[in-house]
Amino acid sequence: MPGTNTDRAARIVARCREIAEYTEIPGEITRLFLTPPMHEVHALLRDWMEAAGMTVRIDAIGNLRGFWPGLVPGSPRLLIGSHLDTVPNAGAFDGVLGVVLAVAIIEELRGDLLPFAIEVIGFSEEEGVRFSKPFLGSLALVGKLDTETLARTDRHGISLRQAIDDYGLDPTPLPAATLAGEAFAYLEIHIEQGPLLESEETSLGVVEALVGQTRMELIFTGQANHAGTTPMHLRHDAIAAAAEWITAVERYASSHDGLVATVGKLEAAPGAGNVIAGQVIASLDVRHADDKIREASVLAILKRADKAAKGRGVHVSCNRQLEQPAVPLDLHLTALLSKAATEAGFPARSMTSGAGHDAMILAPAVPSAMLFLRSPGGLSHHPKETVLPQDVEAALATAMEFLAQLRDHRTNPKEIHA
Ligand code: HGY
Ligand code: MN
Ligand code: MN
Repeated sequence: MPGTNTDRAARIVARCREIAEYTEIPGEITRLFLTPPMHEVHALLRDWMEAAGMTVRIDAIGNLRGFWPGLVPGSPRLLIGSHLDTVPNAGAFDGVLGVVLAVAIIEELRGDLLPFAIEVIGFSEEEGVRFSKPFLGSLALVGKLDTETLARTDRHGISLRQAIDDYGLDPTPLPAATLAGEAFAYLEIHIEQGPLLESEETSLGVVEALVGQTRMELIFTGQANHAGTTPMHLRHDAIAAAAEWITAVERYASSHDGLVATVGKLEAAPGAGNVIAGQVIASLDVRHADDKIREASVLAILKRADKAAKGRGVHVSCNRQLEQPAVPLDLHLTALLSKAATEAGFPARSMTSGAGHDAMILAPAVPSAMLFLRSPGGLSHHPKETVLPQDVEAALATAMEFLAQLRDHRTNPKEIHA
């Protein structure tokens, strides 16, 4: 996609918007793990990657992987990627921008071979929506997708194993999706999804660490009954118990520095205006940079659920879906990325990510770094999520400088920490 600077940023934004047209629900962007529209997204990206000279394949978990060779066969690999799935009613840039930018990086090389290979990865799943567990694509890449996860079912009762099969892939060789020591670094470029960079009128951020997160599901079980005949003091109302608990969650997080806690999803049954709810299933998402504070907060929040339930003769139980510790990114690679941003003319702010990213899963296995782009209005996980072309240009220029630094620094790419 070489062209003038304004052209290339505009084309990257246009490509993200083109990908956004492939959705399960017309009129919004909703593309969960390996649902039918992912075929079109894969086809589109495959075309762009092949036109840029890459060799493309889809691995056993549905990650799209484009390979750009190094100078020498068997050269170690730099991985550049992000995810292609979305939350329900999403924006066009969360995840997708990082993959489209990675393809643009290869195009900008204009045929140059570096002393390392590059593999661009469009992860099949990061959001955790379809199977209530995030990071499926990157977990498979580092060999941490267990059989319990493969047996999970979505809301239609389809197992993860079956979903892979339905997509036309074979889940049996999942271990073959695993990295086998060939990668020496991972770079992820992503929108910030928060207001910080915009508030400081800065295009780019370099991520130093990502906060830890707990995700779980709470099930409040009361007694469904007639709304007209059951006196207030004889009810076991699951919705009332959940509601009391939800406001307690909000109060608790608001009074603890750096803590965020969210109940983002509620399902009440049987779901009729004239029936007292017999059951509520509520999601809980708790995040903090300090794992100990997060763990203590989860316990305190669960205690409040017990209290809200007991007062009404309601029973509450929970399923833990994710326990993801906070993750620091690689010091040397992060310093190199900051230097690249400065040398490209876009000094970046160092920051912590409140959002989860594939880099969290890759980081313990491969030295990892992340570049953030300002999010206008601080909006994300929302259709109005967007990005400024000048920030896209800044990210691309920084990434090209980062590659140049990696090349200059290391005739032997394995010596990244030398
Ligand atoms: O939920 C998250 O932090 C991310 O957007 N997947
Ligand atoms: Mn997201
Ligand atoms: Mn994302």
